[in-house]
Amino acid sequence: MVASIAPPPLPGLPGLPPRTKSAHLSLPPNSSIRASDLTAAHVTVYDPGFAHTQACRSAITYLNGAAGILRYRGYDIASLASSATFPETTFLLLYGDLPSPAQLAAFDATLVTHLTPPASVFAVINAFPPSSHPMSILSAALSALSAALPALNPSLTHGSLYASPQAREAAIFTACGAFPAIAAAIYRHTNNLPPLPHTPPHTLAHLSYTARFMHLLTGAPPPHPSSAATIARALDALLVLHADHELNCSTAALRQLSSSGVDIFTCLGGAVGALYGPLHGGATEGVLKMLRRIGTAANIPSFLARVKAREEKLLGFGHRVYKSYDPRARIVRSLAYDVFDAVGRVEPLIAVATALEAAALEDDYFVSRKLYPNVDFYTGLIYQAVGFRPEFFPVLFALGRSSGWVSHWAEFLDDDDRRISRPQQMYVGKERREFVPIDERKSADKAPSDDAAAPRRTISRL
Ligand code: SDX
Repeated sequence: MVASIAPPPLPGLPGLPPRTKSAHLSLPPNSSIRASDLTAAHVTVYDPGFAHTQACRSAITYLNGAAGILRYRGYDIASLASSATFPETTFLLLYGDLPSPAQLAAFDATLVTHLTPPASVFAVINAFPPSSHPMSILSAALSALSAALPALNPSLTHGSLYASPQAREAAIFTACGAFPAIAAAIYRHTNNLPPLPHTPPHTLAHLSYTARFMHLLTGAPPPHPSSAATIARALDALLVLHADHELNCSTAALRQLSSSGVDIFTCLGGAVGALYGPLHGGATEGVLKMLRRIGTAANIPSFLARVKAREEKLLGFGHRVYKSYDPRARIVRSLAYDVFDAVGRVEPLIAVATALEAAALEDDYFVSRKLYPNVDFYTGLIYQAVGFRPEFFPVLFALGRSSGWVSHWAEFLDDDDRRISRPQQMYVGKERREFVPIDERKSADKAPSDDAAAPRRTISRL
């Protein structure tokens, strides 16, 4: 392909070389180009945040942000959230098709056998101060899992370890199987509850995945089985809704780590680190704290004024891909009332959330920027109604996303385009200069930040 470019003249971006020659690239709309073809024209693409870059090929999840479509392996999210369990969805994401009853039973039974991580993982969890943020502990627990399983570590065995189907399956089932027990242990520790005595996994095999998780939270069967079943079903649907979302920040981080050949658990720890951020999974926690700060609907106008003055962000709103309503947010809002019925009280902050949503969707500041509620806007109201603290919400997000992360990890292993991730940069620093011995340097008569070439510090996107 003769690559030639004729883009509109660039605004005065610092560091971009002046356009010296133009060229022409004719492409049909919605097409992709292999960026290496641009190399022939000595052109690279400057794309901060990779908003316009396809970094991989994947068959797992399809998003259409304009139309508000989300499908896992071709199935609409609404049908999966209402009809599939989380293990069923995990099987779908991993293997590409919905399981038969026998396949699902065998899959879930294998998850149960991997439910209990090595004791050293629990020791790491319980070594943290209980006041620690649960996501800090989760990240460390996954590193501890890596350290406890040398046979599943390419750095301690051999680089092509995961080419073995046995090793790959062991990695997948250990990651997916142990996640609920790790999350539950973190929940207990950060709520100052003593570690549970060892629960033999087979004694929980008769329970659903989410009922097993809830048992590990409390160590006992639920006092009110019928409402517990409604809560378990709602939490299971939330796990399905959070299971995957194509190349979001944390899944991209997982793929980036995996590209270096590091073990799966270290990749998952890196993904947890990305999800922790307040712009990503941390928004589940941030939304609830924001709603608490707003307090009542009467305070919404002044809050939105601060958002428009860029003194605050409307957390739970906006999305890199969805420029319409996040389909998951609608489903979460409907689930909330099922849970409120089950726990016997309506979370008062849902009135503030729905009034806030209505006010924002009537305000041109948000409508013109195509800012709509995302999956995080209502989720925390359910988690709070069930009794979780806001700081634990991102761990619940990670529990759901663990199946998507592991699916992307497995898919990437077989990708013919797999290579270590190493993006380029645009250098905007100093030209070459000679070293000056320290006794020949003038005293620092100006602060380094006075240096005109010093990079601008802007935090407007935080
Ligand atoms: C998740 O990627 C995924 O799929 C993520 C996720 C998943 O399932 O993995 O869906 C989960 O992380 C959902 C997002 C949770 N985060 C939040 O709710 C935090 C609040 N949202 C924003 O920070 C923001 O919308 C992002 C981070 C979600 C998206 O950021 P982008 O795509 O980089 O958008 P942007 O910052 O370029 O914003 C475009 C404009 C800007 O205005 P201008 O400077 O052009 O005038 O919209 C404004 C922004 O200031 N804007 C907001 C806003 N989000 C964007 N203004 C106020 N409040 C907001 N929430």
